[in-house]
Amino acid sequence: MSLLELENVTASYGHAQALHGVSLSLPENGAIGILGANGAGKTTTLRAISGMLKTTGRILFEGKDIAGLGPDRVARLGIAHVPEGRGTLPQLSVRDNLLVGAYQRKDRKQIAADIDYCLDLFPNLRERIKSNAAALSGGEQQMLAVARAVMARPRVMLLDEASLGLAPSTARRVYEAVVRLRREAQLSMVVVEQNAVLAFSVVDHATVLETGKVALAGDKAELMGMDAVRRAYLGG
Ligand SMILES: Nc1ncnc2c1ncn2[C@@H]1O[C@H](COP(=O)(O)OP(=O)(O)O)[C@@H](O)[C@H]1O
Ligand SMILES: [Mg+2]
Repeated sequence: MSLLELENVTASYGHAQALHGVSLSLPENGAIGILGANGAGKTTTLRAISGMLKTTGRILFEGKDIAGLGPDRVARLGIAHVPEGRGTLPQLSVRDNLLVGAYQRKDRKQIAADIDYCLDLFPNLRERIKSNAAALSGGEQQMLAVARAVMARPRVMLLDEASLGLAPSTARRVYEAVVRLRREAQLSMVVVEQNAVLAFSVVDHATVLETGKVALAGDKAELMGMDAVRRAYLGG
């Protein structure tokens, strides 16, 4: 059974419809990618899942329709969103940002162990543990945003363009940690990227969106073998 399934989902901003019937499926312990050009609807799809937009169609999590629940309740179900632009809390320290990620949890010993795990995953953050998030580099802020999501112990992590604006080596470091998370943490992932090479370092299967619709979907080998995908997303 799918852990998360979108069936014919639409979403709009005011009168402008951004998603026109998107369907996709995330298996338990799976990782899927959403690829597509700027404006294709990738971020809107993640916002729809996390309850930030009014939608039509069905959004099934563990078989139950969660459409219309609102961001707080969706987060409580175990869906953690790492938004585009990172969304860390600038005036709080790295440690406090991590604690905010764990705000729904009461298992204090395990929270401390998970902070340690995150600092092991992202050693840069260990050095900056007392710094305000605002003082971090872009790469460190992205690392913090991922780590904060991990602190919620989610079932599903929604990752929105984690490579955006980062130097290639920094983006690779972030994705190496995401690959490790996929191996070590019991979570499934929806990875939104314009950089397909990075996305395919994590995911087995991807959906390509074009103007709010599914243009292509397939497994990694199949998509990487397609000329159109190679040209658009893999640099030839
Ligand atoms: N806050 C917003 N208000 C109005 N239109 C928006 C807003 N955010 C996105 N859109 C529009 O919705 C469409 C999909 O955008 P988005 O999901 O952000 O694309 P992507 O993440 O793939 O770049 C685009 O046409 C974009 O202009
Ligand atoms: Mg986007």
